[in-house]
Amino acid sequence: MTKFTVNDRPVQYRMDSQTPLLWALRDASNLTGTKYGCGTGDCGACTVDVDGQAIRACQVTIAAIEGRFVTTIEGLSPDRSHPLQQAWAAQNVPQCGYCQSGMIMTASVLLKRNSNPTDAEIEAAMTNICRCGTYPRIREAIRQAGRIMRGEERVAAAPAPGIAPDDAARRVPGLTPPADSKEP
Ligand code: FES
Ligand code: FES
Repeated sequence: MTKFTVNDRPVQYRMDSQTPLLWALRDASNLTGTKYGCGTGDCGACTVDVDGQAIRACQVTIAAIEGRFVTTIEGLSPDRSHPLQQAWAAQNVPQCGYCQSGMIMTASVLLKRNSNPTDAEIEAAMTNICRCGTYPRIREAIRQAGRIMRGEERVAAAPAPGIAPDDAARRVPGLTPPADSKEP
């Protein structure tokens, strides 16, 4: 039994303690915003915040997270109001989107420590891989989010999400038969 906190909620996973954090988040908690890319610690698609550090969730077991505080993309803000989410929308950053939650979580750790990072500091922190090549827009969105955090800029609210974050964390569409389904 492994206990820690995910998005401000205490959790207790009845899973093998050697289960990677990624699969506890995705399979047990339905927090599917955290993505599986490589499984080898290289791509960063699975990045979450653990006690203020950007951690690749495919590379740590739930035993190693015992007693710690985990924040996933679903816990970054309840309504897409985090400056990074606002800047991401303003800059139209995503293409396919697969890497983006990992990118945002890495950037959130960077800006939590330093809301005015230099270009070199952004380069050094953002080691995640984007196969769509959105790097220039990611860098610009991080700069803009820093300006928002420092009160130097305001942006229009991001569009309302298509699905409520709580529902996104609870429902797995692929596993939930539609209402008119004859499946048991
Ligand atoms: S899936 Fe974890 S680093 Fe790629
Ligand atoms: S937006 Fe497609 S992998 Fe980054």
